[in-house]
Amino acid sequence: MNDLIKKLVEAYGPSGFEDQMRDLIRPEIEKYADEISVDAMGNMIALKKGKGKGGLKVMIAAHMDEIGLMISHITEDGFCRFTNIGGIYPHTLMGSRVQFADGRIGIIYSDRITDRSKIHGLDKHYIDVGASSKEDCPVKVGDAVGFVRPFLAQGKMLSAKSMDDRIGCVIAIEAMKRLKKSPHDIYFVFSVQEEVGTRGAQAAANMIDPDVGIALDVTLAGDTPEPTPIAVELGKGTAIKVKDTGMIAHAGLVRLMKKRAEEADIPYQLEVLTGGSTDARSIQIANGGAAAGCISIPCRYVHSQSETVHADDVENSVKLLVEILSKPIEL
Ligand code: CO
Ligand code: ZN
Repeated sequence: MNDLIKKLVEAYGPSGFEDQMRDLIRPEIEKYADEISVDAMGNMIALKKGKGKGGLKVMIAAHMDEIGLMISHITEDGFCRFTNIGGIYPHTLMGSRVQFADGRIGIIYSDRITDRSKIHGLDKHYIDVGASSKEDCPVKVGDAVGFVRPFLAQGKMLSAKSMDDRIGCVIAIEAMKRLKKSPHDIYFVFSVQEEVGTRGAQAAANMIDPDVGIALDVTLAGDTPEPTPIAVELGKGTAIKVKDTGMIAHAGLVRLMKKRAEEADIPYQLEVLTGGSTDARSIQIANGGAAAGCISIPCRYVHSQSETVHADDVENSVKLLVEILSKPIEL
């Protein structure tokens, strides 16, 4: 799986600019889907039709987009000021490299720091693309950037700039490959614009109108020095979401997820996240509502350029998803 992870996490695709991601994912799933479509927002929707009786309409969502930056104005000297796309922490930025859609690289720095205990806000940072004036600057206002950071696998610890949520995309692709038989019509949605408010999944869920929705996304891990408190640890199993700040997962679906994990001896943890949400929130409240939940992948350093997950948790997440999808879903 590491080759596919590397391919997806190193690629460019900030929210609203996911076309290169679509081009990378499409050939990976073509063989396993009955139909693939792309909606007006850019969501890529792969339908795997069910066989037999008692099937439901199920939507699986993994978001292709990543956090990034957008050029807001260019100084007379050719430095690019920017705003955020999604949740960017200024203290993760100094010295970072970013990539533009055409592969051009830029370097981030900030205005002079006089008090080292303080960090400037985003408005006092800039991207240097090697230009010497506004006129010869090769990038334009409105250009979006993603970060640059090579994929790192140290044993089972996997680190990258956009594990959130390319690892969810990998899990969806792997599940499509492994799923031999299912009674359900399954819509695998590779969604857009999650990082700016789960917007793509909302449009897709309104269109699909699923009975059941499951998002695949990262959650925090509470096993590092003085972390945000959460009862989830790296390498201790896939995490079944119970609650986050955007939703309370469908109790019947949580029960079913736990049951399927226990039947198949898949280690799992229960997730109550006190900051953040996922595409599952949008699915839950689309149209007349859906039974929604989330399979979460424990992740250290979320929204930094070294988001870190454990290979066993990834594998267990694939297994749990396949277990759920290959059997009847009684809520
Ligand atoms: Co995120
Ligand atoms: Zn995410």
